[in-house]
Amino acid sequence: MDRKQIIDDPQTGNKGEAFETFDDIPTNPNQTRTIGDVITSRYGRRDMLQGLLGVSATTALFGAAALTAPRQAAAIGTAASSRYAFDELARGNDETHHVARGYDADVLLRWGDPITADAPDFDVMNQSAAAQLQQFGYNNDYVGFLPLNAEGSRGLLCVNHEYTNEEVMFPGLGRQDKAQFAGMTQALVDVEMAAHGGSVVEIVRMDDGKWAVVRDGKMNRRITPLDTVMRIDGPAAGHPRMQTSADPSGAQVIGTLNNCAGGMTPWGTWLMAEENFHGYFWTDRLDAGGKPDLSDQPEAARMNRYGVPGLWYAWGKYYDRFNIDKEPNEANRFGWVVEVDPRNPEAAPVKHTALGRFRHEGAETITSKDGHLVVYMGDDARFDYQYKYVSKGVVSDDPAANSNLLRDGTLYAARFDPDGSAHWLPLVQGQGPLTAENGFASQADVLIDARLAADALGATPMDRPEDAAPRGDGTAYIMLTNNSRRSSGRTDAANPRARSDFGHIIEIKEDRSDHAATRGRWSILVKCGDPGIAAVGAEWNPETSENGWFASPDNCAFDADGRLWVATDQGRKWDKTGKSDGLYGVETEGDLRGHSKLFFRCPVGGELCGPYFTPNGETLFLAVQHPGTDGTTALKGFARASTFEDPATRWPDFDPDMPPRPAVVAVTRQGGGKIAT
Ligand code: FEO
Ligand code: CA
Repeated sequence: MDRKQIIDDPQTGNKGEAFETFDDIPTNPNQTRTIGDVITSRYGRRDMLQGLLGVSATTALFGAAALTAPRQAAAIGTAASSRYAFDELARGNDETHHVARGYDADVLLRWGDPITADAPDFDVMNQSAAAQLQQFGYNNDYVGFLPLNAEGSRGLLCVNHEYTNEEVMFPGLGRQDKAQFAGMTQALVDVEMAAHGGSVVEIVRMDDGKWAVVRDGKMNRRITPLDTVMRIDGPAAGHPRMQTSADPSGAQVIGTLNNCAGGMTPWGTWLMAEENFHGYFWTDRLDAGGKPDLSDQPEAARMNRYGVPGLWYAWGKYYDRFNIDKEPNEANRFGWVVEVDPRNPEAAPVKHTALGRFRHEGAETITSKDGHLVVYMGDDARFDYQYKYVSKGVVSDDPAANSNLLRDGTLYAARFDPDGSAHWLPLVQGQGPLTAENGFASQADVLIDARLAADALGATPMDRPEDAAPRGDGTAYIMLTNNSRRSSGRTDAANPRARSDFGHIIEIKEDRSDHAATRGRWSILVKCGDPGIAAVGAEWNPETSENGWFASPDNCAFDADGRLWVATDQGRKWDKTGKSDGLYGVETEGDLRGHSKLFFRCPVGGELCGPYFTPNGETLFLAVQHPGTDGTTALKGFARASTFEDPATRWPDFDPDMPPRPAVVAVTRQGGGKIAT
């Protein structure tokens, strides 16, 4: 997510900047569905389009090509020995999503879709918190799938809802001044809170190969920061810094915030990573420039290191617990990894403090050679760190015992040395600089202030560590999305580019092929960006096509065949590439190492999250987040921020009365079979 950038984005910024117009960008004639096609297929009459939207408005948004036959695609460089067997999609950026030829990408769950038997139908003009608590949440990010039968044709979809975009959710609200939130009310805040968190939804694959929601699934539930009570465990549970007036125990908290990526454990539970939690905290003490004034706040230095309070939302105006003037410890109770048992809707989710407090992007798990659970986790901020956690005990057949693995173990931060060695530095109180004299009186302090502990240990400040993908052979891939604030004097071997707008991917090979090892070797798999512009400094396999290179790697996954897939989030920086965000297969081995191929792309303004493959490799779940919002000030012919009434796209419904809706898409192969084989 690039929420901070959205907030910083001046509403009229970037107008007139030079980049390719949409009708200059080749589109695959076999894949492009124009808004006209969508409405024609839905209503059966092309002329209805003109009545609903007006041709001039549509052509203004998406160029003349939107209503005419797309141009022939440019030559697509498909390497003969690619392990990803599909015809590469053409790059571009338009109002809808696209998938490679021969695949269907069907919308499965949208914001507001009822997910319980009693849930009311979505009424976007009169949304309420009570309705939202029974409906699919906003801004779907992580997607996990837990099969409920041997065939994998029925299962539980576990989906994070990271954040909300009030300007396209609520009619008449418009863009809010982030320091004032004049248009927000408690009722709207409650809807926002109910739209955050997560959803567990039973789904079934029908005889026609399509997935459908089981609305009366007994395990279906919402998890939210409004009403879901959670336990806190591990070394920081109960510590005085975790106690609030509502919870003197320091071991119970309502809800979870900004759940970005995540992971599934080997025992079938779901890990929700709390990322930009700082943005939800408020203070009434603002300086003349509208910035938080923490001068009388005893925890100011620690709060500053985490960006608390971020003032992104109005919640603290209505809920004291989000106001640091009133409840300064509440922010210590967010920024953790939350474990949910999707098969037991009565079980309270658990925040595992042993995994440290930072802006957790994801929590991808793997079992080490001798059975320890290893969790790879990025801290998505400029100059923050890559972490991993290794459990003390080993994974067994006892689910209750397995959950304890997340209570007792060692958290490490990574140091990447110029000689190619990687060192995992333990965050253990009493070791090295992590002493009481340095502000770490207990392991609780080390974990609550994991960033400060990693600072003291000399971990390597990275270019925004996002998701990670570990593989069974002791290899892990780390997505570093970008860091435009890295100056030429601050580059290092593992973050070699100043003003890195496009990011890179690091490969770690752990010693002895063991994910529990405390040393390994690292190398850069790709340096992202346009290989045709020397100043960008991109490095791809030379076979990579004009369509295949990308920028800002973010979420990632391996499929059942051990192939790496990378999703992108350029935020408003997409105007530097002219490409919408999408999903790419990235070769990690052999002559084609560093070769990338485009499989799916998002509608304009959307970020691609997920991805998650079913174990049989036949379905790929993708989450299209915040369609219509990111970077539309740079969208030629639109050049303004989207609002409820005036969005850059109305994906996926293309209903003139419906704003864009984040949605999960199920990708399957036409005629059946595994994806990309
Ligand atoms: Fe929520 Fe770092 O993306
Ligand atoms: Ca992400």
